[in-house]
Amino acid sequence: MVLIKANTAFGYQANSAVRHGLLGCGSRGTSVATSFSENTSAQVVALADLFPDQLAAGKDHFDKVNAGLSRAAIDQKLMFHGPHAFEQLAACKDVDLIQISTPPFFHVQHLKAAVDGGKHVYCEKPVGIDVRQAREALEIAKRVKANQSVDVGFQCRVAPPIAAIAEKIKAGALGKVATVSGYYNSPASTEKVHPGAKPDEYRLRNWLWDRALSGDILVEQNIHIIDLSNWMVGAHPLKATATGGRNILSHFGDCWDNYQVDYSYPGDVHFSFASTQFGSDGRFEAGLKLFGSNGSATVPYSGPIQITGSQAWEWQESTSSVPGAGKFAANGAFLDNLKFADRDKDRGFVDSITTGPAHNQIAAGVDTALSCMLGRMAGYQHREVTWEDLLAHGETYELGFNLEELA
Ligand SMILES: NC(=O)c1ccc[n+]([C@@H]2O[C@H](COP(=O)([O-])OP(=O)(O)OC[C@H]3O[C@@H](n4cnc5c(N)ncnc54)[C@H](O)[C@@H]3O)[C@@H](O)[C@H]2O)c1
Repeated sequence: MVLIKANTAFGYQANSAVRHGLLGCGSRGTSVATSFSENTSAQVVALADLFPDQLAAGKDHFDKVNAGLSRAAIDQKLMFHGPHAFEQLAACKDVDLIQISTPPFFHVQHLKAAVDGGKHVYCEKPVGIDVRQAREALEIAKRVKANQSVDVGFQCRVAPPIAAIAEKIKAGALGKVATVSGYYNSPASTEKVHPGAKPDEYRLRNWLWDRALSGDILVEQNIHIIDLSNWMVGAHPLKATATGGRNILSHFGDCWDNYQVDYSYPGDVHFSFASTQFGSDGRFEAGLKLFGSNGSATVPYSGPIQITGSQAWEWQESTSSVPGAGKFAANGAFLDNLKFADRDKDRGFVDSITTGPAHNQIAAGVDTALSCMLGRMAGYQHREVTWEDLLAHGETYELGFNLEELA
């Protein structure tokens, strides 16, 4: 039997660059791809975006990042724009890894092209904004090859203090979990004004407040906390009741600005979740608390991360104050307890590509996305919705126009 070293089996020598193509050169895409460049062997070699202006801004930025790392500027031949940019990137032989940072409505379509193109994929959350897309993603997951790696953008799980407390909770530090409460209260982002843009382009530029394009705040934003709760409890909710509405947002869009959801996990464990988009002073609070027979756990984005009770514990560094602490980061690059979340997420993903074992996080990503859709449906329909109701209903959202009109 011939033993093949892992890095050879995965096709990379220890120091060779993973050729990185960014799809969606906006705020989060640029932030994450920069983190990959600074913290891993991945090198941005290709860019793709629907809009030429976004693509050009991406080139300016990554040419500077590459120059700072003594790497070549991005070749014009590896720049793609328009409605077929994602397909061109997926077919590009000079790219190993595709990072999908487009609006949520497109994630599954773009994931399909990238996986079927044989690329490693880093796909932002949510994996699907409706049940039809979630089901399609599960089919795509089955086609991921053994040495092909796919990550979903739940970077909070690997933030060192959160990973540490999760390990203790999963090992039983709280005893039997009685209830969970979660919260995500954050500033309402401002509208991106694009004078002269036609209505469909305007929607795309402001996808964040459009239900079909974003999935609404529960699916697009609050998903991080719902993911942490599912992960720490070790299950998805079986049913939900919810309320919410649009009380203060007055600009473009149809997303709600607040949700109150009561989720039920197996064993009648209730997860009470509330979120609001409010004000504009940059302050925010996001996190969760778990209460059990032996004590409680507090897991905020900012502030002490600790366990009380018979197995009391605290993450020592989480209470230190750093410039920018407690400030909201719309691009997900929070400080405080999430300071190293992207760095460690990116390193783990690139290691899975270069030395293995490969990841396939699609099904886990779908499970969390469906949990958020469950709460959303309960809210919109003002009734209790079970997991089975959600799947049977099969709600679907349509874009309502053809992207070709933007070609
Ligand atoms: N993990 C996190 O913490 C986190 C934080 C913020 C955003 N996000 C996610 O990242 C994604 C991008 O968010 P953002 O804030 O960067 O948005 P953005 O609007 O700043 O960027 C989106 C980019 O995608 C491009 N685009 C739109 N439709 C496209 C299409 N069909 N094909 C190719 N390009 C297209 C836009 O032109 C834009 O450049 C979203 O899915 C969002 O949910 C994740």
